[in-house]
Amino acid sequence: MADGVVPLKLRPRRGFLQTMRTDAWWIGPLLTVLGFGAFLVWANVRVFENDHYYSGHGGTANLATNYLTPFYSPLLFDVAKSDAVQRPFPSGHAILSEKPPFLPGFVSAAALILIFPAGFRFTCYYYRGAYYKAFWGDPANCSVGEPRSGYLGERTLPLVLQNIHRYFLYAALIFILILSWDVLTAFKFYEVDQATGLRTGNWRIGVGVGTVLMAVNVVLIALYTLGCHSLRHLIGGKRDCISAKPLSAKMYSCVTCLNNRHMLWAWCSLFSVGFTDVYVWMLARGVWTDFHVTF
Ligand code: FES
Repeated sequence: MADGVVPLKLRPRRGFLQTMRTDAWWIGPLLTVLGFGAFLVWANVRVFENDHYYSGHGGTANLATNYLTPFYSPLLFDVAKSDAVQRPFPSGHAILSEKPPFLPGFVSAAALILIFPAGFRFTCYYYRGAYYKAFWGDPANCSVGEPRSGYLGERTLPLVLQNIHRYFLYAALIFILILSWDVLTAFKFYEVDQATGLRTGNWRIGVGVGTVLMAVNVVLIALYTLGCHSLRHLIGGKRDCISAKPLSAKMYSCVTCLNNRHMLWAWCSLFSVGFTDVYVWMLARGVWTDFHVTF
């Protein structure tokens, strides 16, 4: 015990939430509970709502917007509901002509595809650290007392399943392409028949607030996905000497550059996904009107 250093194992164990930290260490976990928790509640509401996923007329008299919310993309099937005035039916985005009859009524198109982006976020290294601290305080933050004396790690069920993250990454990369396609289609504005109030087959190119939101959203999702730790390992982590492969070294440093701000992109993209969905939801319900210009 030279120089007054006490070996770790001889130090008295801190009680739960005890700490010598004097900073506001609890703010980070609290914001995670509020932000992530609100997103989870909203996402569940939207998955079970099974409606208002397509912007429809967006409130304008002669042009219909063509925005699909990221929560329902790719759209596996359309759902016919009684409010088709605000939501032209079919949307023109559905892969299947109708919902497969063997699926129970409560299963929405979103429920079948959100497993991939949701699984990617839940198993993300950053989010794991954040929600372990925020939701079950183990530990509540660095150098803050834990509720348990032992360390279980992620080597047993259920947390060992977090290792599936690298496979969700492959799906997340495909989702960037799918959402990019949705952005391209959001430049399309359908003319509306003034007599019937229904969408015609004619369309014009334009840009609306929804187009911009969807474009920003896909950029933020790409910045988050392309900074993934698993992607960095995939690109360069298997090599003993990455400098011998200049292209790999370049891509590795690009991913590292994004990875340095992984937390920032994680939150920005979470917020943009949620807000883009709220925007489309409000248009579909006829509450908001999209501002757009066409050429
Ligand atoms: S580590 Fe966060 S997305 Fe892969």
